[in-house]
Amino acid sequence: MTTRVEIVNDFLAINVKVGSTIQQIVEASGSALPFGCRDGECGTCIVEVVQGMEFLSEKTDKEIKVLKESCAGLCTTNTRLSCQMKIAKPNGVVRLKY
Ligand code: FES
Repeated sequence: MTTRVEIVNDFLAINVKVGSTIQQIVEASGSALPFGCRDGECGTCIVEVVQGMEFLSEKTDKEIKVLKESCAGLCTTNTRLSCQMKIAKPNGVVRLKY
């Protein structure tokens, strides 16, 4: 039971298990997507979910707060913190752009 994660900037595509974090996927794949705190505090890992938001975990209150502070009003509903997202459902495609 996997979902396909594509990181557009790096031309990477990986099939991953439900429950995997995007941070784990990015770090294992060799993607250049940057991380800072890895704890949802700094906003360094902001990405745009181009496709497949329904296959990801919901935003936490902490993520919503940091996105508001980091985006200066430029975030959309598809803006997420990579270190806070997990694959929540199988059989999907999640496309990320940073
Ligand atoms: S690495 Fe700091 S918020 Fe994700």
